Amino acid sequence: MDSLRFARQFLRHPRQLGTPFQSGRMLARTMAEEVGRSVRVVEFGAGTGPVTREILRRLPENGRLTCFEVNPEFCRCLERIDDPRLCVINDDATRCGRYVSQPDCVVSGLPLTLFDGRARETILAIARRSGLYVQLQYTPAMGQDIRRHFPDVRLKFVVLNFPPAFVYVCRAGGAIPAARLWHHRVPARARGRRVLMDSDEARS
Ligand SMILES: C[S@@+](CC[C@H](N)C(=O)[O-])C[C@H]1O[C@@H](n2cnc3c(N)ncnc32)[C@H](O)[C@@H]1O
Repeated sequence: MDSLRFARQFLRHPRQLGTPFQSGRMLARTMAEEVGRSVRVVEFGAGTGPVTREILRRLPENGRLTCFEVNPEFCRCLERIDDPRLCVINDDATRCGRYVSQPDCVVSGLPLTLFDGRARETILAIARRSGLYVQLQYTPAMGQDIRRHFPDVRLKFVVLNFPPAFVYVCRAGGAIPAARLWHHRVPARARGRRVLMDSDEARS
């Protein structure tokens, strides 16, 4: 069961996961709904995939979802999601620029409060370039950092989750239209267990 697997991994890597509980359905839906009409979506820290599945449910047929997850066991869970629109990359989210550029939405479950300042700033800079950024948090402590990068920040509180959680929905404004700039890069250096390429776009 995914929740048990998640808790077990938390015991091994508490700082990597940040919580022993994967997101519940209501939280996953709340995050996925914010993706709106985005086509090129990146997910950071996908875990066992509760948010991933909800995003895929809403993603258009021509959409692409690229997930970055450092934990190989979670990558194996994500690989079991049978959807050609999904690409799973077993690498650090801060290296996202090696694989994709300019998504039109970044959804993140990363435990940002546990990141060092440099890694956090890298993630926020990547997210800002995308224009729309949806971040899961269990405290509102990241508000100041996030507001430095995004002029438009909404904070949602999901009480029907254990533990209750916050979702930051952030818009940068003035983003470059993603459909023109998105591409997957060569996966040769990926430590990935699976890197699905959209070959046409990869060559563009
Ligand atoms: C709080 S869990 C969220 C998992 C899932 N999104 C959910 O909502 O249940 C954080 C996830 O981020 C992953 N993670 C932590 N640091 C990471 C990094 N630098 N790059 C990619 N994934 C990372 C962890 O392995 C874990 O799966």
